[in-house]
Amino acid sequence: MTFKICIRSSGREFTAEEKETVLAAALRQGVMLPYSCRSGACGTCKGKLVSGEVDYGTYEPKAMSAAEKENGHALFCQAKPLSDLVIEAKEIAAAKDIPIRILPARVVQMEKLADDVMRLSLKLAEGQRLQYLAGQYIDILLSGNQRRSFSLATSPLSDELLQLHIRHVPGGHFTGHVFEKMKEKDLLRFQGPFGMFFLREDDVQGSTNVGRSQLPASRDISTSMYVTGDRMSRATSDRPAILIAGGTGFAPIKSILEYAFAQGIQRPLHLYWGVRAKRDLYLPDLPQAWAKQHSNFKFTPVLSEPKPEDHWSGRQGWVHEAVAEDHPDLSRHEVYASGPPPMIDAIKGMVKKHRLPEDRLYYDSFEFAHASS
Ligand SMILES: Cc1cc2nc3c(=O)[nH]c(=O)nc-3n(C[C@H](O)[C@H](O)[C@H](O)COP(=O)(O)OP(=O)(O)OC[C@H]3O[C@@H](n4cnc5c(N)ncnc54)[C@H](O)[C@@H]3O)c2cc1C
Ligand code: FES
Repeated sequence: MTFKICIRSSGREFTAEEKETVLAAALRQGVMLPYSCRSGACGTCKGKLVSGEVDYGTYEPKAMSAAEKENGHALFCQAKPLSDLVIEAKEIAAAKDIPIRILPARVVQMEKLADDVMRLSLKLAEGQRLQYLAGQYIDILLSGNQRRSFSLATSPLSDELLQLHIRHVPGGHFTGHVFEKMKEKDLLRFQGPFGMFFLREDDVQGSTNVGRSQLPASRDISTSMYVTGDRMSRATSDRPAILIAGGTGFAPIKSILEYAFAQGIQRPLHLYWGVRAKRDLYLPDLPQAWAKQHSNFKFTPVLSEPKPEDHWSGRQGWVHEAVAEDHPDLSRHEVYASGPPPMIDAIKGMVKKHRLPEDRLYYDSFEFAHASS
């Protein structure tokens, strides 16, 4: 049995399966409701039931008082619909709507994916979850007020463990520590989520309903909704997206792609992953598997310095040049790029030459921290 859930303020609708919580159903269908612990302890997911019935689930009294429940409130991370519902809930419309928090985390797994790439799996304290948009990053907090940025490599829909892909920078203070001293069970602290690198799902340019003045500020749009009368409407982008990863720039793009696949996004998605040699494609089977599973996804690895033992017959050279060769006219595309600053600069240089609209290039440049930070 499925139940229909409608958010009163926006008119957005989604469905919940039997025994599925309102929050889980919303996230599964790309409706971003706020949450933190997902265990009935913090109250972040609290909203109002306008009509319908729920099983309230189990939760701590500090998360929702008896009076609040009496008043029609429910914790959507726990509440399971027993009928169709109309609810009041604050939707996350932009990165700025997600609170930035400082949290401790335990290193639960360290796996070397290549000689110089470590996958670090982090677990938050009992009852804590980090809400983020696919593609965002966190800052690891170090002593002496220093911080180091790393992208979250998994989809926010599977947020039980946070994963980072960390490249060992020769002589690097933090990445050296990760490769030489860090052990499983170590504790660290981080702040986040940060960043504007996430998939734009709505057709910002294509919406003819509103003027740009009604859009949320600048590029801070994730699942934007445009006011048309007293309702909001969504125009989903069907623009082809080209995703360009340089080295561990694969991490945020993996998060974006896993999220897009889970949402059933059907627009063409073409990943170019640029590395030096074959061994630097540190999760080689994953994009190949995606290509088999999703007909709208294509994968092109590009090696800049293949080794003789690689027996490489695929694309060679700089990754942005491969993109330019395949797509001389980018006027209908969106481009998402993450990785080393020189790669990002080269991609920025493509904007004019290949007719890529400037506001359809989204990037995370893996700048390193300067001495004072
Ligand atoms: C938004 C963002 C997201 C990022 N995501 C990732 C990620 O997912 N995975 C990842 O591996 N890295 C990522 N980075 C880069 C990462 O933050 C740096 O590599 C890291 O801070 C290096 O820390 P360190 O203490 O080891 O080096 P430091 O001790 O700070 O640096 C030592 C010296 O190494 C050089 N150096 C440092 N970092 C780099 C670098 N990245 N490239 C070239 N030379 C460098 C500099 O000369 C520096 O003086 C990201 C950066 C940003 C800004
Ligand atoms: S997310 Fe914390 S109580 Fe629901």
